[in-house]
Amino acid sequence: MKTPKVRARSANPLRYKLGFPLVLLCCTFFFLVGFYGSNSLSKEEKHVVIDPVTNEKLVFEHGRTGDSSVTDIPFQVLSWKPRALLYPNFASKEQCEAIIKLARTRLAPSGLALRKGESEATTKEIRTSSGTFLRASEDKTQSLAEVEEKMARATMIPRQNGEAFNVLRYNPGQKYDCHYDVFDPAEYGPQPSQRMASFLLYLSDVEEGGETMFPFENFQNMNTGYNYKDCIGLKVKPRQGDALLFYSMHPNGTFDKTALHGSCPVIKGEKWVATKWIRNTDKF
Ligand SMILES: *[C@@H]1O[C@H](CO)[C@@H](O)[C@H](O)[C@H]1NC(C)=O
Repeated sequence: MKTPKVRARSANPLRYKLGFPLVLLCCTFFFLVGFYGSNSLSKEEKHVVIDPVTNEKLVFEHGRTGDSSVTDIPFQVLSWKPRALLYPNFASKEQCEAIIKLARTRLAPSGLALRKGESEATTKEIRTSSGTFLRASEDKTQSLAEVEEKMARATMIPRQNGEAFNVLRYNPGQKYDCHYDVFDPAEYGPQPSQRMASFLLYLSDVEEGGETMFPFENFQNMNTGYNYKDCIGLKVKPRQGDALLFYSMHPNGTFDKTALHGSCPVIKGEKWVATKWIRNTDKF
């Protein structure tokens, strides 16, 4: 009884020929669906907003370059003068740690853009952190790319307007005296492009100190002979995963004098931060 059955099978050569490639094709298909499916899931679905009435994903008609659903990126306005907002838990612990791990191997003393008459020797006490510039493409874990993409969506400023990430480490005693991120043409010469906004992602908690400070917030301390080393005004305490965005220019393109900022000295612990300067042009 067995033999005829086997014969009957092998009598159909097409079956055997197609079998293996077909299985392979199916596997490839489902692998790709799963792979890309889970990829887009991790990017967008995580912060999907559910409509409380229909209990379904909240979706609006959107253009070809738009998102496929409503996403949720919470923020708190910290100040209007300067325009500063905090995005709690913007990045995950895993993303932060992957970025630190990559940056740690490349740290070098941080530099400064010099004004006329300044030298590295005369300015070396202003910014004492160590750092490195990293492009999203240099991060095999994709953490920087994910952060960059989310940042562009949260700010609606295209990714191309951002400089490479400047990842910094501040040890106890290290700080960055107050300064502006825009380059005043009166001091630095003509500027084809400006740093209109700054995005800081805190990669670590800091036990004590290391706050980002805005001493001129709401025009306070402005005409009182402020010493650029004093840690006063609005202070933002670093917390792993939180992000801070602030604008250095008004909507009309002039500089916002209240956007003066700096990093208070770390007192206890270690501060890691990834900074991205956002330009008002996509070529710079
Ligand atoms: C630009 O905007 C700022 C803030 O609203 C305002 O204080 C300033 O006078 C404006 N400057 C010009 C030239 O319009």
